[in-house]
Amino acid sequence: MRINSPQMNIIHRACLKASKSLIRDFGEIEKLQVSSKGPGDFVSAADKKSEKIIIEELLKAHPEYGILSEESGEINKNNKEKRWIIDPIDGTSNFLNGIPQFAISIAYEENNEVLCGIIFDPIKNEMFFAEKGSGAFLNNSRIRVSNKKSLKESMLVTGGPRVSSKKREDIFKEYTKISNIVDIPIRKFGSAALDIANVACGRFDGYWQWELSYWDIAAGIIILKEAGGYIEFLDVNEKNSLKRNIIASNSKIHQELKDAIKKNIE
Ligand code: IPD
Ligand code: CA
Ligand code: CA
Repeated sequence: MRINSPQMNIIHRACLKASKSLIRDFGEIEKLQVSSKGPGDFVSAADKKSEKIIIEELLKAHPEYGILSEESGEINKNNKEKRWIIDPIDGTSNFLNGIPQFAISIAYEENNEVLCGIIFDPIKNEMFFAEKGSGAFLNNSRIRVSNKKSLKESMLVTGGPRVSSKKREDIFKEYTKISNIVDIPIRKFGSAALDIANVACGRFDGYWQWELSYWDIAAGIIILKEAGGYIEFLDVNEKNSLKRNIIASNSKIHQELKDAIKKNIE
């Protein structure tokens, strides 16, 4: 794997170390599924363990850098110039159910611009990574977004709108409505980070989801961009500005996808 920046090296090391613990814990899930207690507490411990390993590695390298991490919140809050963004497990519900579709996502940004990032699926051993200006990679191969030019030939992925903002029936209606409008296959895989990575390597042509957190997407931003894709943030000035509504695509279908989504939500 070709790494240029020292920050990328640090992220890579942290990611591999945390993944060993995650793989071990994922192996235990199957046994816990059938136990009367269920795997809930165990998973939240696995999440925290993964985060602890990552944060320790990052702080060891740069004790002064800022950190934004899902479970621990902010560390060195005043350092906005150089900051790591961490999601220790993206796809927790999958992890909890023993479904092998989850990832570690770590990004590095300077002055609010993401400069490099990794999304690592430890079960499939797929490491997506990118550094600004150096292209995007999946393990040792360069990746590019797909070449599809219209929605009708596309395959989309979504996380759908969140339950927090709408009633379940509304969510279902929205989801099925857009399938009708575009009349194309739409999948739901349950890990925003991997969904974006899968657009970056051409498996999907577009992705959208409302109310994501920054740690869900930070690494995806640079990976998709370096792969030739486009990520758009909608309604950024909404009152809850910590949540992001995004459309991510191979660039070519972007406008058509956006129009279809807008038609659906109006
Ligand atoms: C979630 C996953 C999921 C998305 C949710 C996220 P988590 O992250 O990315 O695909 O639909 O909005 O919160 O909780 O598994 O880290
Ligand atoms: Ca997440
Ligand atoms: Ca998470």
